[in-house]
Amino acid sequence: MKKSNHPSSNLPCIYQQVNKISPSPYDSSVDQTRTALPRAIFFLLFLSVTNNTPCNAQLSPTFYDATCPTALRTIRTTIRTAISRERRMAASLLRLHFHDCFVQGCDASILLEDGPSIVGERNALPNKGSVRGYEVIDAAKSEVEKLCPGVVSCADILTVAARDASEMVGGPSWSVKLGRRDYSTTASFVLAETSLPSFKAPLDSLISTFKDNGLSARDMVALSGAHTIGQAQCFLFRDRIYSNGSDIDAGFASTRRRGCPHW
Ligand code: HEM
Repeated sequence: MKKSNHPSSNLPCIYQQVNKISPSPYDSSVDQTRTALPRAIFFLLFLSVTNNTPCNAQLSPTFYDATCPTALRTIRTTIRTAISRERRMAASLLRLHFHDCFVQGCDASILLEDGPSIVGERNALPNKGSVRGYEVIDAAKSEVEKLCPGVVSCADILTVAARDASEMVGGPSWSVKLGRRDYSTTASFVLAETSLPSFKAPLDSLISTFKDNGLSARDMVALSGAHTIGQAQCFLFRDRIYSNGSDIDAGFASTRRRGCPHW
């Protein structure tokens, strides 16, 4: 597949159709939607993440004003529809964007499916059976393509979708600089396995992962506020809620135990 010289091709975001997306196997969940995000800090820092892209110099919030003036409105409508069907999708889209950006920048490489000439990022450990929302981005791309074929990149759609999703569930909003290109041949399974933070990672490793992306420890703490929405699989926090440790609120642990049985 050739790299395009244009900000986008008119292909769908999922270029290589191999497997259909299956529903998430989340066996239990933490409903984190009631806690407010640390708005201002999160807003500023998320900008740093969204700027982590190979063509930063060309980015501008008005990039599509002349070539596809209805793009942003169209993306927003698709995201709103998806979130009104399932509120958690807001969290999933935010995480999808984060997992894209931490692997070679915000280039939409996370969307690529495995094919004969590419091993994508979807099946890397931090993503497999856990990252969600691919079909929402693809739906937004299809709608935009109807209006302006071959103009708007999947990378931009993903970035705008994360912003819209945050806003729609009462989180912060921010201005998104646009003009990312889709580097469809550079998905990296290996980098996705090594660059995304593990839930078991110690603090120094987390700090260093964020540092590699131009983000400070303070940025990391603020961005982790994203976990005030969305869900996590039971096995990830089971040990903690049954440990009776002093590092978790006893009432919170007890509530979580109801939805996450001991073995
Ligand atoms: C600090 C390092 C981070 C670690 C170790 C981490 C780890 C995790 C884990 C283990 C889950 C649960 C996944 C599952 O159960 O399948 C999760 C969910 C989530 N993460 Fe992170 N994460 C980190 C940073 C971030 C950042 C920077 C953001 C966004 C700015 C983010 C947004 C989310 C969201 C929204 C969810 C819920 C997704 C959903 O409900 O579909 N995370 N994270």
